[in-house]
Amino acid sequence: MSEEVTILDKTFVKYIRDEEINAAVAHVAAQINHDYQDEPPLILITLNGAIVFAVDLLKQLSINARITCVKLSSYQGTESTNKINQLIGLSDDVRGKRVLIVEDIVDTGRTYQHLWNMLHEAGVKEVRIATMTLKPEAYKLDLPVHYVGFSIPNKFVIGRGLDYDGYGRQLPDIYQLKTEGNGR
Ligand code: IMP
Ligand code: MG
Repeated sequence: MSEEVTILDKTFVKYIRDEEINAAVAHVAAQINHDYQDEPPLILITLNGAIVFAVDLLKQLSINARITCVKLSSYQGTESTNKINQLIGLSDDVRGKRVLIVEDIVDTGRTYQHLWNMLHEAGVKEVRIATMTLKPEAYKLDLPVHYVGFSIPNKFVIGRGLDYDGYGRQLPDIYQLKTEGNGR
């Protein structure tokens, strides 16, 4: 795969390689297998971004977890918006259950907060989150982020499920928006 990709009006530079991501996913899977062996969670995948990470992760889980999805959206282009749209809601009864949210990225944490509130209103016993990437500089919540593949700078990234206006999700590596600092 080339070191740069151009999508619509923007150019992105390769930032984290496929093999490194696979290793991080394996590490997260091992932690989850360990922590949930006695009481498996309901795994809640957030569409669309988390699909690639979720598939990679699920194949490595040895726990007997149920799986469901919700679909939320908050981004337009490369900017997060304050408003979260719930496009597909929660169809499962989560009362008294442990829920493990699977995310592609935690940025400001607004999506996580939205899910956390929704799940607690529905009576969950415990909520944790596994995310492929976390932007600590952008993260504004006090809630813990339990399982993290990579902590990354506050720059826009694509690939491995992450998109720019719907494009770039299929890239096996993660790419960062090209700026003065990271251009080669
Ligand atoms: P949050 O609600 O601000 O934490 O943002 C979470 C959502 O914003 C993610 O699930 C992504 O869909 C999107 N997002 C945040 N940062 C990026 C990025 O760098 N690239 C692509 N999507 C992003
Ligand atoms: Mg997402």
